[in-house]
Amino acid sequence: MDKTIELVNAVKDIQAMPSVIVKVLNVMKKPTVSMKELGDIVIYDQSLTVKILALVNSAYYGFSQQISSINIALSLLGMVKVKNIIVAVAMKPMMSGAGDKELWKHSIRVAAGCEYLAKLTKIVDPDEAFIAGFIHDIGKMVLNMNNPKMYEKVIEVTKAGHDILDVEKKYFDSDHVRAGSLLAKRWQLPILLANIVSYHHSPSLSSIPVPCNLVYTVDKIVQENLDQSALDKDFLKTLGVDIEDIEDLRNAILQKAELLIAELT
Ligand SMILES: [Fe+2]
Ligand SMILES: [Fe+2]
Repeated sequence: MDKTIELVNAVKDIQAMPSVIVKVLNVMKKPTVSMKELGDIVIYDQSLTVKILALVNSAYYGFSQQISSINIALSLLGMVKVKNIIVAVAMKPMMSGAGDKELWKHSIRVAAGCEYLAKLTKIVDPDEAFIAGFIHDIGKMVLNMNNPKMYEKVIEVTKAGHDILDVEKKYFDSDHVRAGSLLAKRWQLPILLANIVSYHHSPSLSSIPVPCNLVYTVDKIVQENLDQSALDKDFLKTLGVDIEDIEDLRNAILQKAELLIAELT
């Protein structure tokens, strides 16, 4: 059997998406879904209610008044943002496994960065950009859960300056792009998200290169050690970002992301 199939088949917990995500995605598929239906899902999940209230009152969204009602919080945020938050919260346990404790935080950083740049440049819808950034590395969960110790090793070797896909291939005979692509198929993710998972390391190969390039760019910007040579200068130009301003952009993104991480943790 193909190694990637074997790896994905081995992680039954991941293959079955958390029930709250399934519920939310199903509700969202209906054309006439009401905020009340979404609210009902949130209200029955207490930790989600607490997090959404904390978030709506945080500087991340910057609403001026103090909000204590979950229904008001939901209507202020809007459906798509609520869905994004639910997905980010529900996937945290899966992403915080041994071996790669940083994956959830990294995913939030890329999500916040994509949302931020999308708002600034209007090249992609900011809410879509957020979820695209958040799910880009889902394939890492597959490798990590198959062998946390070995994945720890992958991270260590990658930090020494090696390409992550090469290192994963060496240790797992597959990589997080392949594993993520298969997972996206099994989860029946929308085309945009499946594309992000498959092409966030090679955006020019995607049939929808702009959002893939956005995720690629933010993924590089939020790395611990920013390697400017890895950035696509032409794409930055289309974003209107000067390479000299990249440090400021990085700081702005990380600051935003930390607000979100603090409220969702
Ligand atoms: Fe990746
Ligand atoms: Fe990444």
